[in-house]
Amino acid sequence: MGKVIAILAASMIAAGNISAVNQFDISVNKPGADIAPTMYGVFFEDINFGADGGLYAEMVKNRSFEFPNPLMGWYSSGKVTVKSDGPFSRNPHYVTLENSGHKEKGTGIDNEGYFGISFVKDSSYRFSVYARASKGKKSRIIVELVDPASDGETQVCARVKINVITDEWTKYEVNLSPDKTVEKGRLRIFLDSGNPVDLEHVSLFPVDTYNGHENGLRRDLAELLADIKPGVFRFPGGCIVEGTDLATRYQWKNTVGPVENRPLNENRWHYTFHHRYFPDYYQSNGLGFYEYFLLSEEIGAAPLPVLNVGMACQYQNKSLDAHVPVDELDPYVQDAVDLIEFANGDTTTVWGALRSSMGHPEPFGLEYLAIGNEQWGPEYVERLKVFIDTLGKVHPEIKIVGSSGPAPDGDKFDYLWDEMKKLNVDLVDEHYYRPEEWFLSQGMRYDNYDRKSPKVFAGEYACHTKGHKRNNFDAALCEAAFMTGLERNADVVRMATYAPLFAHVDGWQWRPDMIWFDNMRSVPTVSYYVQKLYGNYKGTHVLPLTMDGKPVAGQENQNGLFASAAVDKPTGDIIIKVANTSAQSQEIKFNIKGLKKGRKLTSMRKISLHSDDSRLDNTLDNPDAVKPVEVTENIDGNYFSSDVPAKTFQVIVVSCEQ
Ligand code: AHR
Repeated sequence: MGKVIAILAASMIAAGNISAVNQFDISVNKPGADIAPTMYGVFFEDINFGADGGLYAEMVKNRSFEFPNPLMGWYSSGKVTVKSDGPFSRNPHYVTLENSGHKEKGTGIDNEGYFGISFVKDSSYRFSVYARASKGKKSRIIVELVDPASDGETQVCARVKINVITDEWTKYEVNLSPDKTVEKGRLRIFLDSGNPVDLEHVSLFPVDTYNGHENGLRRDLAELLADIKPGVFRFPGGCIVEGTDLATRYQWKNTVGPVENRPLNENRWHYTFHHRYFPDYYQSNGLGFYEYFLLSEEIGAAPLPVLNVGMACQYQNKSLDAHVPVDELDPYVQDAVDLIEFANGDTTTVWGALRSSMGHPEPFGLEYLAIGNEQWGPEYVERLKVFIDTLGKVHPEIKIVGSSGPAPDGDKFDYLWDEMKKLNVDLVDEHYYRPEEWFLSQGMRYDNYDRKSPKVFAGEYACHTKGHKRNNFDAALCEAAFMTGLERNADVVRMATYAPLFAHVDGWQWRPDMIWFDNMRSVPTVSYYVQKLYGNYKGTHVLPLTMDGKPVAGQENQNGLFASAAVDKPTGDIIIKVANTSAQSQEIKFNIKGLKKGRKLTSMRKISLHSDDSRLDNTLDNPDAVKPVEVTENIDGNYFSSDVPAKTFQVIVVSCEQ
């Protein structure tokens, strides 16, 4: 008879039915692995106009006239000449505005910004420019924020005159406050004098940046990051670390010091996808390593820089000649050593002094360093070994993150994991951009990982739903379900970061992404809310959890339920995460075991993320389509239940009192 019932139950599940009980036993007196403070974080790469035109609040494109076409992004009229003996050795170009010789024809330049220059009525914008007049003369420019679109007639929304009073290069700075909100405006500068003027490093920032920094970040975007309460911040990529070739790899030393003298770099995402071609996509490096470290600190995340290992992107370079010969790696290794000094060295060191001069005498407390992004093969291993040998001697305190290649399985992955174990790296970076089935079948991925091996950093992942590579609720639910397996295996997985992070609606190359924005608005996707719920309700230690007497395996055959449990020791809260991936609402019964005598459960906050439409996501025009909804219920006794609707991710925070 028992056998018949078992067979019946099995066939009901296979047919999509749900077996009845769903009892979760959680033992609070047996906390397991600690959940690393770095567990849930963010990964930033300058893709999808994530930095210039995105998080980096500079509004002027090609501000130093250093794009290969020096006037790209600028419209000029009258007599405008590009010259190349400017005051900044690594950005030598500038422009001269001269009287055109015709009284009707003015001389000026307009900047189009990133998909327009957007400004808000009565807000304040800091304009700055390096300028000089010619010898013995004075000159004057007029600076305007204009709306070129209104009825075909340009409308001036803010205007200021600047007298250029010397033939020495001088920085002039003024604030502009427009009398109108314009989405696709322009910055206009024109000559208001018979005498010529030289202009260099033309810049426009909102005054209201994140934490008010002058070379700052867009406040709305940075606040969204801070709201996740991320434990780790990986930067600056991704593929841009590797470069299309070594000449265009990311070089952190080019991204520190005065912004005016940080050289431009190509951005490989400008041409990687022909159907999303952006010939004006470069890296100004205004958002550089100092700013990344500062942001990490300000959002409370451990910084995790990624450095080039001496290899250009292997997808784009099949030949070994594209990489640095192993015996010529010294400058690359030195970059790593110097970076540690830049982050942690005291102010008497060369690089520590530079950090201090930029405004941060205190060390940034760097603990982790990733060497290589999606590298593979023996060519990676032999190069990584050179770094590890040196860093192990001079900086044994720094934890090294190695790569397992671009995919979460297969020959490259298996080979690299074996090699990472031999090299004894601290963490191995795994990447998975995979469809729904993959995420739902990998709930147990880490259950059987070797506990003594290097730890795991799930450095890039996102559910790419089949035939629909866009953000949607279903993808986010699969990610939430999968992440219960990361949490249950917190002794193995110490960091996890979704990717990519940002995308400009007018300038994306890759989707799905976590946060979308235009020049004025930003919208968190459902995937963002999943990350935020994990980041905000992390807990400090994993709690043992069984479902109907068996360990929660995170497999579809447990009624499509995925779950994890944790305790937050400082508050005593018990945090349960449940993803109901099935098409049916399910009642879950919770049995909290092992509470200390006298302690009693008082209430639970249930925070649910749900949509009836699996293809739905938040957009700029409909930003509240799917958001977490919170309710609080009282609890009486150690046994309580919660209805988890079909297709729902629910975080349950149970409070206790003595
Ligand atoms: O996140 C987008 C890209 O995906 C990253 O640059 C790269 O590491 C991966 O292939």
